[in-house]
Amino acid sequence: MTVVLPRHQMVRVIAASITDLVAAAMAMIRGLGGGVSPRPSDRAASAPWTGVPVQDLIEALPALIWCTRPDGEPIYFSRQLRDFYGFDVDQKDSAGASRLSGILDTVIHPDDLATVRKMFAHSLKTGAPYAVKHRHRRFDGEYRRVETRAIAMRNAAGEIVQWNGICFDIEDQMRVQADLHLVQENLTRASQAASLAELSASIAHEVNQPLAAIVANSNACQRWLLADPPNIQRAQKTVDRIIRDANAAADVVGRIRALFSQSEKVRNCTALDGVIIEARDLVADQAVRRRVRLDVGIADDLPLVAFDRVQVQQVLVNLIRNGMEAMSDVPGDRVLGIFAYRTEGYVTIEVSDRGPGVDHPEEIFEPFYTTKGYGMGMGLAISRSIVESHGGRLWVEKNEPQGAKFIFTLPAEVNKKS
Ligand SMILES: Nc1ncnc2c1ncn2[C@@H]1O[C@H](COP(=O)(O)OP(=O)(O)OP(=O)(O)O)[C@@H](O)[C@H]1O
Ligand SMILES: [Mg+2]
Repeated sequence: MTVVLPRHQMVRVIAASITDLVAAAMAMIRGLGGGVSPRPSDRAASAPWTGVPVQDLIEALPALIWCTRPDGEPIYFSRQLRDFYGFDVDQKDSAGASRLSGILDTVIHPDDLATVRKMFAHSLKTGAPYAVKHRHRRFDGEYRRVETRAIAMRNAAGEIVQWNGICFDIEDQMRVQADLHLVQENLTRASQAASLAELSASIAHEVNQPLAAIVANSNACQRWLLADPPNIQRAQKTVDRIIRDANAAADVVGRIRALFSQSEKVRNCTALDGVIIEARDLVADQAVRRRVRLDVGIADDLPLVAFDRVQVQQVLVNLIRNGMEAMSDVPGDRVLGIFAYRTEGYVTIEVSDRGPGVDHPEEIFEPFYTTKGYGMGMGLAISRSIVESHGGRLWVEKNEPQGAKFIFTLPAEVNKKS
């Protein structure tokens, strides 16, 4: 016979079942304290509604689950995690090293190892929950990105008795996101190209008229002067017209410059480290896709700078992107350095790469200079004009041992030092 419960009772029944399951799972996981992944004979509590042993249920969950002792020593891997790594929790034990070290050294990507160690040590010391995204190595050698979370389990006295952790494989999701970013980036480039073409056409149109008039009047002026006798009065009039038209052309250029200098109104006096971190985060996906390691170093004593956040971010992103593009054929280490430090009256920022370097250090700053099939040749021209409008300088040097180093300065606020 089927009994239909009223909705509020059903909610209570389900809630009670979940509570029972969690309690049973806790008891079961606690029971794992001493050893390796449990054998079928170790199975204890059953899930209340199906009679499936909780152990089997945890083993079957589509997640990578692990437990450690209070000091971080691993004591349990779920079946999914054992399958993922291709070994069990006790199989990397070796004399002279802790089990935790043996496992971390085997599975964590070398570039992420220091961060993972630091963050886990922090959680072990403070009892704070642990959450980090990193790459870890599958049994077949492929590194996959995962999101790991762990939390301390405490006894009635509040002492930590165990750490329970879960990893989700987010590699596929990250790849989709990266592809999406690429599409967005291409779209942005395309629309930038379109607005640039439009802007150039209208500038050409506006400047062309006074220029054509200047040429015509110059010819006329020459004729009045060459006439016999020369007609000085007429020549004088045409020179007046030439001056008027030249001023009109200069006005057009002046108005365009004014458009770009509007940013002075939105300059705030802040520390630069935030904008550098934001720019790094913006390009992080692209860096992973291009196998580029981003090395960021920001000095602690940076003075404050008055700058337009969006524009300076644009400069950083342009330089970082150029650096990454320059290393696309580099077979070895692709390292992109971003360093910010204090110099006399300025903050200096360096963006260095290990690409082929720059052959024409001044030409590359010219608008429309590009060696890329898909490039517009505007990145450096725009970056230089932004830096100069802030009162700084942007130039390129040779990087050691190889590659290019783009350096720019921004004036420090004299009165407000951080
Ligand atoms: N880090 C670098 N290493 C070597 N060459 C570089 C580097 N950065 C820039 N260049 C050279 O300078 C040229 C101009 O760079 P710029 O950023 O102005 O334009 P682009 O990257 O070609 O196109 P876009 O306008 O889309 O940025 C590049 O095409 C490239 O030849
Ligand atoms: Mg560029």
